[in-house]
Order: sequence, then structure tokens, then C-alpha cells
Amino acid sequence: MHAKSILWIVLCVSAGGGSQLDYGYDGEEYEDWTQGPVNCSTTEAVKGGQVTYSQGGLEGSVLSYHCSPGQYPHPLSYRLCGPDGDWSPMRSASGRLVSHATCRDILCPAQLQLDHGDIWPRNQWFRVGATQSFSCQEGFTLYGSAQRNCTLTGGWTGLTPICDNHAEDCSDPGIPPGAQRSAGPFQVGQKFSYSCQTGLDLLGSAERVCLENREWSGSMPRCLGRNTYDSPSDVAKAMTGSLAGLMDVLSPEEKKTIAEKSFARTFNVAKGSRMNVYILLDTSGSIQRKDFEKSRNATIALIEKLDSYEVKLKFHVLSFASEAKDIVDITESEISGSTDDVIWNLRNFNYHSHGEKTGTNLYAALQRVNEVMSYFKENSAQYHFNETQNVIVIATDGFSNTGKDPQIALLKIRNLLGYHSMSSEQKDETLLDVYAFGIGEQVNKEQLNALASQKSGETHVFFLKDYETLGEVFNSIISDKSVTMCGVAQEVTPEDGVKAYTNPWHVTVVTGTSLSCFGSILSQNWVLTAAHCFARASTDRVSQQVQIEHGDGMAVSKAVVLHPQFNIRALKHRNVSEFYDYDVALIQVNESIPLSWKARPICLPCTVPASRAMKSVNTNCQQHRKALLPHQQTEASFINSHRNPKRRVTHIQTQAQRQSCVEKARQVIHEPTDVRLDEYVTDRFLCSGGSSGYKDAVSCKGDSGGSLFLQQKNRYFQVGVLSWGITNVCDPANRGKYSSEDPPPNARDFHIDLFQIMPWLKQHLGEEIQFLPDVD
Ligand SMILES: *[C@@H]1O[C@H](CO)[C@@H](O)[C@H](O)[C@H]1NC(C)=O
Ligand SMILES: *[C@@H]1O[C@H](CO)[C@@H](O)[C@H](O)[C@H]1NC(C)=O
Ligand SMILES: *[C@@H]1O[C@H](CO)[C@@H](O)[C@H](O)[C@H]1NC(C)=O
Ligand SMILES: *[C@@H]1O[C@H](CO)[C@@H](O)[C@H](O)[C@H]1NC(C)=O
Ligand SMILES: *[C@@H]1O[C@H](CO)[C@@H](O)[C@H](O)[C@H]1NC(C)=O
Ligand SMILES: *[C@@H]1O[C@H](CO)[C@@H](O)[C@H](O)[C@H]1NC(C)=O
Repeated sequence: MHAKSILWIVLCVSAGGGSQLDYGYDGEEYEDWTQGPVNCSTTEAVKGGQVTYSQGGLEGSVLSYHCSPGQYPHPLSYRLCGPDGDWSPMRSASGRLVSHATCRDILCPAQLQLDHGDIWPRNQWFRVGATQSFSCQEGFTLYGSAQRNCTLTGGWTGLTPICDNHAEDCSDPGIPPGAQRSAGPFQVGQKFSYSCQTGLDLLGSAERVCLENREWSGSMPRCLGRNTYDSPSDVAKAMTGSLAGLMDVLSPEEKKTIAEKSFARTFNVAKGSRMNVYILLDTSGSIQRKDFEKSRNATIALIEKLDSYEVKLKFHVLSFASEAKDIVDITESEISGSTDDVIWNLRNFNYHSHGEKTGTNLYAALQRVNEVMSYFKENSAQYHFNETQNVIVIATDGFSNTGKDPQIALLKIRNLLGYHSMSSEQKDETLLDVYAFGIGEQVNKEQLNALASQKSGETHVFFLKDYETLGEVFNSIISDKSVTMCGVAQEVTPEDGVKAYTNPWHVTVVTGTSLSCFGSILSQNWVLTAAHCFARASTDRVSQQVQIEHGDGMAVSKAVVLHPQFNIRALKHRNVSEFYDYDVALIQVNESIPLSWKARPICLPCTVPASRAMKSVNTNCQQHRKALLPHQQTEASFINSHRNPKRRVTHIQTQAQRQSCVEKARQVIHEPTDVRLDEYVTDRFLCSGGSSGYKDAVSCKGDSGGSLFLQQKNRYFQVGVLSWGITNVCDPANRGKYSSEDPPPNARDFHIDLFQIMPWLKQHLGEEIQFLPDVD
């Protein structure tokens, strides 16, 4: 973490020939100096805290100010002992000399702006422990926290509040504490910018654009104070989300148990299952030996963590000062592909090998990465260049001060991968992730922020207090137990004769009666389907064994669990013969479905695996809903059976669009009855079909129980279970007139909304799938 800039000044001065004048020496003192070193005083003080010294005040020793938690040393936290026996001077942010260090309270920057909502109290800064509260105006829903507390590290508990009514193309991405934003509307093509209040640095994307696909470009900005750092636990969570999502990980525990089974093999063909990790370590003169050891230890922790997952990994480790030096060369496959060898090389790297070269040449480091990646590209078939994830991890305590602009090298790397756009649209850069870790107070935040990837919903740049914290972060990333890999499917391949398993979660449920239904695999032991496939009410005994035909064979049921509130006859006494509220059932299979490309689970919202698939770990169930159903009309698919199962595209109508969709169901409630439409189509139903501007497909009889699903970040998520529709377009009477893809204008489908039955799902699946804490 140490005084790069200060050391630099000292060296420049001495190189300039003793510069007595600069230091204000007169001749006598200069004589003194030649007779022996003058020690720096070891009786310094910081008001409210403690002082420690390395090497007892000898030239080159470091003085550190320490304050209690919730405080920070002002104007800086350490000073260097110069050859003159003086500690390096202290200057405030404005450049004024400061004679005495003091411990100051850490303050949290307040939420300054909340569109369509209220904030109280309305201060600019809050003390540690203070609370700020939020509410939304009528017609707007609050996402995130209604109340947040200022933490010891200058951050806030909970999540950024957002008031949204989903009336616009893109949903409101929110405004972080300490920031202000220009106003909406959030229509496609609209752009707006963020700024942070004075004294705070903006990290992430300062400008965001509502893209054609109704997502925001870039990553969420945040405002970080000069004396505040990211907390290790938050960094670990963000890293876990982003990295684990990228690796399609299988947890280490599972890896052990099913090590050599076929599942492991399928990883080798999985997109993103090869990963080249480039680790760039700053060893410039400013880094003390001890800190280098800490960063080395942290790096080893990272390598070991990554290695515990079933991904084909290769490492390149280099150290950079005025120049870049390979510690592990990734092109030497035997070493770079063996974690033990990588770690051995790292442990035996001589910290002094850069000599006295004190510059920081991040350009040279990135240029070296560019060189090896160019080599891989030239030999792309041999090295699977097109299918390899590239992860660049930069750890530095300062700023690049020699060599060219590091951006130039990074631009070359992006070009190699075919990412040419200069804009902030990096969400399509699926094969490249650049993580930047700034350590200590001398870091150039702007420079690192510009280098790190900016991807929607992910964070790639972090600022940590010291190298010890970096170790903590790397030690705690990616350590949860549940198996992920939900919602992965092969994409349709154009070549003839090659069958692609595009819907591997999709199963056929054969009940033994004439009725057959569809279902979806939620875990190796559970399949979700519709209750009406089995019975007319949850009180009916389901005694028959059902068969589940999945892509890789067949399973039979061990138990069928209907939702306890399902009763098709519940409104019979009021002249409505069929009522489908809570039309869901879970089938437990008699033996675990072996996972393969042909049969694997779809992601269930409000679970940890789904969070990871979305690459965002710090979320709750409500946010999953917002992320998956962001618009009034959200594109989704279901599977239509007519002979040859095919995906069909529709739109889910929510918010202001829901009522007109539901309205079409009036025609199936036959008079005389006093049953109201909202009693018949309850809040449990998602309504789909009939979008203006699209030709929405509808289901046929026989499609019941199938999944209503959508794709995000290349993964599939189920949001509904197909229950019933207004028109059976596949009825022989409609042949030639209508089809699933060409339905009559009033046709609509109704699906049980999974978000409305989460507690029941958790009750049965909770042992196997980890649900988010707010599902109760
Ligand atoms: C400077 O400090 C060193 C180590 O603490 C000590 O051995 C030495 O005597 C000191 N020199 C002077 C001139 O005080
Ligand atoms: C925030 O502070 C309030 C009042 O001190 C407390 O009741 C609440 O539990 C705290 N919330 C969190 C998330 O720490
Ligand atoms: C780094 O790790 C080694 C071995 O685990 C340990 O002996 C050493 O003390 C660690 N160094 C630091 C600075 O933490
Ligand atoms: C890899 O990408 C290059 C172009 O960047 C293309 O020509 C080549 O066919 C791709 N190879 C594979 C195996 O997809
Ligand atoms: C599960 O059912 C299949 C098909 O009937 C049968 O072959 C298999 O032995 C059963 N497994 C167990 C553990 O009962
Ligand atoms: C049900 O229908 C019968 C005759 O068809 C009618 O007399 C009765 O009022 C209806 N019940 C309700 C609740 O509407």
C-alpha cells in the first residue's frame, strides 16, 4: 500500500543531485547528514488514534496512523521517513500542508435523489449507525430497501431504493447514495448521466443508455469517498456472483462426489468451460516486501478457489514494475494448466527481481497479455480460442506512471476478441472480464475504473484498504454448497442431423389415463407440473404411478404433491364448473435424474442458483421478479406439443397490461353466476398472449404443466406453469383455421405465477435447492 508518489518525489529529488535547496538545508546540516543517518522521530501522534513505525524510524521506514473502526486518519494514513530524518509532509486534498494528523469520523454519503419517492431525513452525510428511510409515490412500487443504515465502512446496509411503475421501455436502474442523475424518460435510445457529490469518486458507468433489448448499457455506478473502501464481504459477494456465473460452476463438494461421472465430461463441451486467467501483480517499488507476500498469498487463495470448480483453467501470472515479468507463462501448458505448478512458481518468485525499478507500467503488463492472447488466436483451433473465457485480474496499489496508456493495450485485447465498440456496451463481451483491485489510498480510481469491465448488474472494480483485505476477499469467494448449472441449454445448431437439446428441463408426464402433460425439471429429484393432470382437488388421492419422459430416458414417480389449495370444484356451487387456482404439482422421482445435456434443471427464481445464473448474488426475491419480468409486456416462451415439441414465443402481460389480457377470460365464465373475473383469474395467474405489435403464440390442450420461461444472460428461468387457455387452437374443429402460432385475436393463456407460490416450493424443495432468505 505504500506511498508511491511520495517515494517517487524523493527519488527524483535525489537523482537531481542532492538538491539541498529543495529541502532547505544549509551547509552545516548537509555536513551532519554525511556523518551518519538521522532517524525520523518516533514520537509522532495522531489525535484519537495510535502510531506504529516500521524499522524504528530509520530512513525508508514507514509511519502508520491507526484509528478505531468508524474513523479514518486525516489527511493520510502513512508517511515515509526521508534521508533528511523528516517524515514526508502531509497535505490535505486541497494541497494545503497539514501539521497534525487526526482521526476523523467516517461518514456515509446520503441518498440524495429518489425519483417518484420520498427520502427522510434529507441530509448530505450520515454518521455511522444512522438510518435513512424511503417510500414511493402512489402507483410506484419500491424495490430495494425501505430503510438503510450507515455502516462502519462508510457504506449502507441493504439495497439501493428504486421507485418504478414499469411504464417505460427500460426500468429505472436506480440512483446510488451520493449521486445525482439527469431525468428520464427511459425510452429506447435515451441516455442519461450520473454525477457524484464533491469528494466522492464515481465508479462504474457515468453514462447509461436504454438499449434496443430494453436493458441498460454499462454497469451501475457508485460513489466512493476517498477514505472509504469496499467491504471484503461485499466484494466477495460481487465477485462470487460475477465469477461463478461466468464459470457455470459446480460446487467443490459436488465435484468430489461425482468427479468422474459423465456430468464432468459435459463441461468440456460447455460454452465458457475453458477459462484463461491472467493475474497482474504490481511489484513496483512502492510495494513493501510484506505487502508483496500478502498479495502473493491472496493470489494463491484465488487460484485455489478457482481450481476447486470443474472448469478447465490455465493461468498466466505476471508481475509488473517498470516492465512486466512472467511468473507463470500461460503458453507453457504443462505448467499453466497445473494449479500446483502455478502456485509453486508463484511462491518461488523473487520479489527483488525487478531490481530498483520503481515505475508502474500497467501498459507493459496488459501488452504482455495481448501478446499471448494473439498467439492463442493465431493457433485458435488448438487453443479453442473462440470458446475460452478470458479473465484478467489486476491488483495494484498505485497508478500507471510509465509506459503508454494501459487503455491502448486493453483495446488491442478487446479487438482480438472481436469487441470493437468503443461505447460502454460491454454486456456482449461474453469472453472477456477485467477485474481491477485498487489497494490503499494512492490508487488512481479513475484509471482502474476505466480499465475494469462494465457489465450490467455486475461490478468489476473494487477498492480495498490493504493487501490483507484482498486475501480475505479471495478466501471467501465462491464457497456455497448448492449445485448450480440450472437453465443451461444447447442452442439450436444449423447443421442438419445434429440434434440440439434446447429445452433439457422439459419433460412429458404420462399419467396412465388418456391425459398427458408436460413438466419441468427443477432439481434432480423434483419435477414441476400442473395439478389438474392428476386430480380434481388436492384432497383426491393420487395413487397411480406416473412416468416422466425426459431427454435422457425415463423416471417414475415416488410421490406426487398437489398444492393444498388446488380444487377444481371450488366454485361449483356458484355455477363455475372448473377453477384452476393453485394448479401446480410437484413430482418426486424414484431415483435422481442423471444430469446431462439432454436432462437438466431450469433455474427457479428466488433461489441462490438463479442468482448466480443472473450473476448477481446480493439480491432478493422481489428483485428476481423485477429482473425477470421487467416490462409490462415481457417476451417469454412455452413449449407447444402438436406432434413435434417446439418453442413458441409469447409475451407475459403484467402491470398496466394485465387487466386487458385477463378481461378476455370473461367469455369462459358462463352466466348465471356471481363469480367475479378477479375471483376466477386470481393473482396467482400470469396472463400471456395478444400483444399489440407481436404475433403471440398460444398453447394447445396437452401443453398443460409445461414451463413458461425466459432467457437472461444465456440461462433459462421458469416464471410460470401453463395451466389453461381460452381457445384450444389445436382442436380438430379449428384445423386449417387456427394454429398455435396463428391464433384467433381473443386467445390468451393463463399460467400459475411461480413468484406467488414460493413458500410452497421452498417447503418441498428447500432441502435440495437453496432459496433466498426472503422466501418464507
Ligand atoms: C536510529 O534508529 C536505530 C534503530 O532504532 C538505532 O539503532 C540508532 O541508534 C538510531 N540513530 C540515531 C542517530 O538516533
Ligand atoms: C438499522 O437500524 C435500526 C435502528 O437502529 C434497526 O432497528 C435495524 O434493525 C437496522 N437495520 C439493519 C439492516 O441493520
Ligand atoms: C503467506 O503464506 C505463508 C504460507 O501459508 C505464510 O507462512 C506467510 O506468513 C504468509 N505471509 C503473509 C505476509 O501473510
Ligand atoms: C473462431 O472465430 C473465427 C473468427 O474470429 C472464425 O473464423 C472461426 O471459424 C471460429 N472458430 C470456431 C471453431 O468457431
Ligand atoms: C425407479 O423406477 C425404475 C423404472 O420403473 C426402476 O427401473 C428403478 O429400479 C427404480 N429405482 C428405485 C431406486 O426404485
Ligand atoms: C346457478 O344457476 C342457477 C340456474 O341455472 C341459478 O338459479 C342460480 O342463481 C345460479 N347461482 C348463482 C350463484 O349465480
